[in-house]
Order: sequence, then structure tokens, then C-alpha cells
Amino acid sequence: SIVRRSSTTGASYVSRRGFASESAPERKVAVLGAAGGIGQPLSLLMKLNPLVSRLSLYDIAGTPGVAADVSHINTRSEVAGFAGEEQLGQALEGADVVIIPAGVPRKPGMTRDDLFNINAGIVKSLCTAIAKYCPNALVNMISNPVNSTVPIAAEVFKKAGTYDEKRLFGVTTLDVVRAKTFYAGKAKVNVAEVNVPVVGGHAGITILPLFSQATPKANLSDEEIEALTKRTQDGGTEVVEAKAGKGSATLSMAYAGAIFADACLKGLNGVPDVVECSFVQSNVTELPFFASKVRLGKNGVEEVLGLGALTDYEKKGLEALKPELLSSIEKGIKFAREN
Ligand code: NAI
Repeated sequence: SIVRRSSTTGASYVSRRGFASESAPERKVAVLGAAGGIGQPLSLLMKLNPLVSRLSLYDIAGTPGVAADVSHINTRSEVAGFAGEEQLGQALEGADVVIIPAGVPRKPGMTRDDLFNINAGIVKSLCTAIAKYCPNALVNMISNPVNSTVPIAAEVFKKAGTYDEKRLFGVTTLDVVRAKTFYAGKAKVNVAEVNVPVVGGHAGITILPLFSQATPKANLSDEEIEALTKRTQDGGTEVVEAKAGKGSATLSMAYAGAIFADACLKGLNGVPDVVECSFVQSNVTELPFFASKVRLGKNGVEEVLGLGALTDYEKKGLEALKPELLSSIEKGIKFAREN
């Protein structure tokens, strides 16, 4: 059979198979937590992505139904559902990209750090399996607190001897999505054209949107920039409160997760100049992990881009976020080493 993975054979394999689209090699994407509030719409969006040839949906329960449902959509990928730990290996085997929205979401009054105790263990066990079954996959970490779960994943991979800092990403795309939407509304520019880098981490004040670098340019006052910054930082809480106990952002997060996974796939496929913000191992500041613009390529992170020029307000925000972000990173590392 000529049906095999193309990560080593590349485009020639595609043409041999006679695909109409020369630029779409075989790619397997696994979603862990696929039956959840984020997982279901994210699975739907990944099923719509023509870069995906196999879509693997894993959860502790409920995935046969989600997979059967999504599989009827007449797009390229073949869908398979896996439920329960004994099927996790199969779900992961051969994955090029693994997206992790597994774990509990916030309720009103909770910070992302309040999720630590439950989600740290979930992330640790899923990453242990990734190290075993698909050590070369790009890992897109959505589970919160991202500021800690990414360092946990790094430690698990280090312990397993599979760590490659180019392949581990904290998904902060929703912060960018929010910053773009809020900026467009305030600046009265076409939202489809807006770009705003968001750096730092993914919780409260560690989320630092750089509106001074937003395009198209607009003449916003300091007060307006401050209000936009706060709204971006509290965007998640806005949704948590509106959902009043029924969870946190799921639909906008699924959209953001799909955008980021698509960028990873494009990078793997050799599309040039794919740049997204992500929380990665970094030398941009003195912190070991930091979110900034990242150029994606055939091996994952191709280049971690710097911060560019900051305003005094942004510089202050940057200094203010460092202690909290560092302590969240250290908490993750400590958990992984002690458990
Ligand atoms: P949810 O509770 O609706 O779904 C979570 C799913 O994870 C459930 O289906 C559950 O069965 C599954 N799960 C639990 N343990 C698992 C395990 N060991 N293996 C596989 N699956 C497992 O929660 P929701 O709303 O989908 O949120 C998921 C996570 O995403 C939360 O940690 C939340 O805080 C985070 N999140 C992250 C955002 C970001 O910007 N990075 C934005 C919004 C949420």
C-alpha cells in the first residue's frame, strides 16, 4: 500500500498519490480532550482543514460519538475516535500535531492557577504518552494554566529524553484574537486587516498586548490603550462570568486553537513566513518561557522573534508581569520534578 506517512517522503509522495493539491502532504492531528467544550468545536474546525489527512479524537469518554458525528463531514481527513487510556497510544501514534484542550475550565471567581492541581496531573500523564508514542509531534498546549502546563510538559519530555524546545507551544492565540477584535472596535478599522502582537504569558497581567505595534495604525489615547489592554487581559474572565458557572471560552478558543494548529501545519509543510504568537522556551527575556512572535517551520519553531520597540506603558507592563510569570513557570517545573 502507498498509504503511509509523508513526513519523511514529503511532496514527492503527494504527487505519486496523485493528489490534486500538491502542497498537502499527509498529516495526522490528534486532539486530546476532544469531547469537551473546546474539544468538540475544535475537532469540527480541524475536520474542515484541508491540510489534515487523519484526525484522531481522544478523550476519557464520549469520543466515539464525537468522532462518528464529525466523520460524516465530506472533507479530506479520515476521523477516528479513541476513548480511555488504553487507546491513548493508538490515538497518538504517528501524530504530526497534538492539540491538548483536556482538563477542567474556570468557574466564576477562579483564576487559571486555581486549575493547577487537577490539570497539572492530566497534562503530565498525556505528555508522558506523547513522549512514548509520538515524540516528534508538535504539541499545542491549551490546558490551563498555560504558564505552568507548558513548563510541566517540557519537564516530562526532558525526563523521557525527547524534549525539543522547537516542538512545544503554549497556545496564546485567543489573546491575540481578542486583542485584534477589541482594537478593531475601538480604532474603527477593518478587523480582518488587524495585527496585534501579544506577549508575556497567558493569565491576567502576564498577558501583554503591544497595541503600539498594532496595524493598521490608529491614534488612540493612553486611556483607550489602557482600557484595551485591561479588556484583553480580562477577556477570559468576561466569558467565564457571562457563562455563570458553565465554563470558560470554548467557541472562540476552538477558533483560536484551529488557527494556531493550521499555522503549525503550514510551517511543517514548508510554507514560508508563518508567524504566530506563542508561549515557548525563550531567550527574549530572562524568563525561561515567554510568549512572543514565533516563526514556524518544518521543525516547529524556526525563530523566536524579539519584542520590538515598546512604549513606557508596555515596558512597565513587561516588568510587572515577570514575577508572576516566573513563579507560575517555577510552580510547573517543581510539580513535574516532584510527581
Ligand atoms: P471541558 O470540561 O468542557 O472539557 C475538557 C475535556 O477534557 C472533557 O471532555 C474531559 O473529559 C477531558 N479530559 C479530562 N481529563 C482528561 C484526560 N486525562 N485525557 C483526555 N481528556 C481528558 O473544558 P473546556 O472548556 O473544553 O476547557 C479545557 C481546558 O482549556 C481548560 O483547562 C481551560 O482552562 C483551557 N482553556 C484554555 C484557553 C487558552 O487560551 N489557552 C482558553 C479557554 C480554556
